[in-house]
Amino acid sequence: MAIDRQPFSATDDLDLEPGQRDTDAVPVRLLTRQDLDAVLRIDAAATGYSRKDFYRARLERSQAESSVHLSLAAELDNQVVGFVTVTFYQGEYGHPERSASLDAIGVHPDYAGRHVAAALMTQLEMNLRALHVETIRTEVDWNALELIGFFHKAGFAPAPRLCLERKITR
Ligand SMILES: CC(C)(COP(=O)(O)OP(=O)(O)OC[C@H]1O[C@@H](n2cnc3c(N)ncnc32)[C@H](O)[C@@H]1OP(=O)(O)O)[C@@H](O)C(=O)NCCC(=O)NCCS
Repeated sequence: MAIDRQPFSATDDLDLEPGQRDTDAVPVRLLTRQDLDAVLRIDAAATGYSRKDFYRARLERSQAESSVHLSLAAELDNQVVGFVTVTFYQGEYGHPERSASLDAIGVHPDYAGRHVAAALMTQLEMNLRALHVETIRTEVDWNALELIGFFHKAGFAPAPRLCLERKITR
């Protein structure tokens, strides 16, 4: 996704007063170590399995190494109901530009359709723009149709490259 005028864009609806966007009702802040349980609950509800070690390490690193990771939390009813986490890259994999990889996003199913993910993406875009990130990439499972639909709505499109893999035979 180019960090330019896109759906869920921080530059959309510039004619609206503060508080008039749908996403204004969803406060977004940095995710902290204390949010681990909430993140695990949301991720388990979305995926059906637990990735405790991954998220514990990610939250630790987001706080300790803000130049490598950024993680955001969205709150409603005084609780974390959604999160997004990204990793920054500079010049890796032959991409000379500063880019970010969106590693995970989740919204608790009880809060689906309430602009939580849109609020996270809007704030994320503001942060990435301030950090001079030019491109954000993500990987989605081929059969994760819900997520693909959301990313399409959020302005993502297939990248012009193929991701290949093969099993290592034993
Ligand atoms: C996909 C997901 C992030 C959407 O969150 P959400 O808070 O319900 O989305 P929002 O309410 O902010 O929707 C924003 C926009 O995207 C659209 N949208 C949301 N989900 C969509 C979907 N599956 N397909 C197409 N569009 C979608 C909405 O209609 C809305 O558009 P609008 O403003 O024109 O009405 C959420 O359902 C989720 O967490 N799913 C599971 C993700 C997952 O598996 N994560 C783990 C691996 S990373």
